[in-house]
Amino acid sequence: MCFHYHNGELYAEGVDLKKIAREVGTPFYCYSSEKLTRNFEAYRRALADFHSTVCYSVKANTNLAVVSTLARLGGGADVVSAGEMYVAMKAGIPADKIVFSGVGKTAAELEAAIKNQILQINAESAAEVETINQIALRLGVKANVALRVNPDVDALTHVKITTGKKENKFGVDWDDAHRLYREAANMEGIRLAGIAVHIGSQLLDVEPFRLAFTKIAGMVRELEAEGIVLDNIDLGGGLGINYNVELPPTCAAYADVVRETLGDLHKHIIAEPGRSVVGNAGILVTEVICTKKMGSKNFIVVDAGFNDLVRPAMYDAWHTILPVSKKGVAPLIADVVGPICESGDVFAKDRIIEPVQAGRLLAIMCAGAYGASMSSVYNFRPLVPEVMVRGEEYAVVRKRTSYEEMLSGHALPQWL
Ligand code: LLP
Repeated sequence: MCFHYHNGELYAEGVDLKKIAREVGTPFYCYSSEKLTRNFEAYRRALADFHSTVCYSVKANTNLAVVSTLARLGGGADVVSAGEMYVAMKAGIPADKIVFSGVGKTAAELEAAIKNQILQINAESAAEVETINQIALRLGVKANVALRVNPDVDALTHVKITTGKKENKFGVDWDDAHRLYREAANMEGIRLAGIAVHIGSQLLDVEPFRLAFTKIAGMVRELEAEGIVLDNIDLGGGLGINYNVELPPTCAAYADVVRETLGDLHKHIIAEPGRSVVGNAGILVTEVICTKKMGSKNFIVVDAGFNDLVRPAMYDAWHTILPVSKKGVAPLIADVVGPICESGDVFAKDRIIEPVQAGRLLAIMCAGAYGASMSSVYNFRPLVPEVMVRGEEYAVVRKRTSYEEMLSGHALPQWL
């Protein structure tokens, strides 16, 4: 157990969270390197009988120590901006293990990817393929390109994280993909490296994957029949995690679907998991500022806000909230809210929770993915520290930003 109670106190691996709170202040993110490693290894084990690369989706958590931990384990990276590519390479991920996805890559970003000779650029439109070709010709090289196709499959997940339906902005329309492959095959600046798909996030059922991968297998065969042979099949990410009472499929069940749908093609399989690698490997620890009662409603006001963790406000996401010191007293029903001046700054509504007073610590669980990476400085609140635990030790892997640092890019016009 990577986050567990020991004598009523919540620990991250071998480290008492109260000790970290004392030393770095609250709020802070805390990551377990053991959990990260185990989650990553689960993918690797599940995909062991394929020629495969697990390209961690850096957007889930961009912290250099997190990405470096996965780099050390042999992971690749799925990036969606030149910034993420920079972090991945700084973390030691070789360019030939990096895939670049995204619906709106700029010419400058594409040029950087081409110059770095990354594993593949997942192009999402005819216009993008054309731009890549132009840049590669100018540089006198061939760019490794895959088409990210939109299979028009419903991932059966939250609407804001569904990406593989026709009405979503992502990928090349299924009906145009074949023609675009043919056109790209004749472009001098392009080496067709693969095909890519990503249908959504937090999937709790493998059947949408099965539908999508089956379509991909058909497309790969059709292309091969006319001499367009691809090396890589990029499956995207999307496997869900258990935030509350969900029963997500295991990596092994996912791999079974990959085997059943794509196994006989003998291609290089790329997986792009984000949430399922880092989600349950991180928590956000926050201190109770005060409690109050209004009518019949109890409020617990904490020092973290939606600028630190936006998922509940943005996706109505459930995150389990645990007292760092468990007193074992009868629970009450309360809203756990942040200090931000918006009614949406709520981490939990009508939650059954142990009563806590000012000064007590709460842990917001499963906050490793899309937590710190989506945080902002709204209300001029500094980005919170991130710490990583390994066994009995911990390290601050990003310090709290100071007000000076926050203001450092600001400048006054000459008239002030
Ligand atoms: N590959 C591509 C092309 C993606 O767009 C994504 C996520 C992934 C891989 C990784 O998916 P994962 O394994 O993490 O499900 N902020 C939202 C999730 C947004 C997902 C965006 N794309 C949330 O907090 O639920």
